[in-house]
Amino acid sequence: MSLDEEIRQRLEGLKIPTHIAVIMDGNGRWAEQRGLTRLQGHAAGRRAMKRLMDAAIDFAVQVVSVYAFSTENWRRPENEIEGLMALIEETLREEFKELQEQQVRVVTSGRLCQLPPSLQELLAKTEHDTADNKELTLNLCVNYGGRAEIADAAAAIAADAVAGKIAPSEIDTEVVATYLYQPELPDPDLLIRTSGELRVSNFLLYQLAYSEIVVLPVYWPDFDAYNLLEAIEEFNERKRRFGGRPS
Ligand code: IPE
Ligand code: IPE
Ligand code: MG
Repeated sequence: MSLDEEIRQRLEGLKIPTHIAVIMDGNGRWAEQRGLTRLQGHAAGRRAMKRLMDAAIDFAVQVVSVYAFSTENWRRPENEIEGLMALIEETLREEFKELQEQQVRVVTSGRLCQLPPSLQELLAKTEHDTADNKELTLNLCVNYGGRAEIADAAAAIAADAVAGKIAPSEIDTEVVATYLYQPELPDPDLLIRTSGELRVSNFLLYQLAYSEIVVLPVYWPDFDAYNLLEAIEEFNERKRRFGGRPS
């Protein structure tokens, strides 16, 4: 895909975040505004995710983490949950060929064992079959919760301690990080949330410690390459200090 000339010019000289995390929010409100069902909003959100992926590859982003379903989203009505699960499954099936062609490696984060078995199998197969792809890593966060991830890490560390594999005195922040769902991924440099909400909603709590946050006013189904560019431009204005002194 050739880049739009304006995008190409604006990208020049910009520092591209290595890892971008995205809270894809606003599908319901987008649908409501148009007199559509929430599920139609989620289907439009799928098309926005395709635009995100194409743009991220064009911009040479290395890792994209997307929040597809949270551990709190089970509070929604059954038909919406079923629709979302079916949409995730359908998307993975229909986009598989394109993921391979674009050399996208898919990894997952979340309590996958609570998902429908057919989706669990498909996620495992997609991870396996794309494992050698090198262009971009897509971290699909499904039934993901930051607190659940930290609790799961704590349980695994405790089990290793009981088994004598690790001593409590050895446990530091770096060791804890190795027990997270995708320990080899770098922390996100940039967190983008659409739909204007100023909250993290239990996304990547451990990893977002020093991420720059950009909140965009657009609803997720309207997201496009220009929005990604705007977020990266804003990221470039930030002075990241990581607790140190300004240089
Ligand atoms: C985000 O859109 C998608 C998911 C949470 C799965 P929402 O469904 O939260 O849309 P709003 O926030 O109600 O508009
Ligand atoms: C966050 O959006 C979860 C996903 C995008 C999957 P929500 O719409 O669930 O978050 P809240 O309820 O507004 O905090
Ligand atoms: Mg929402």
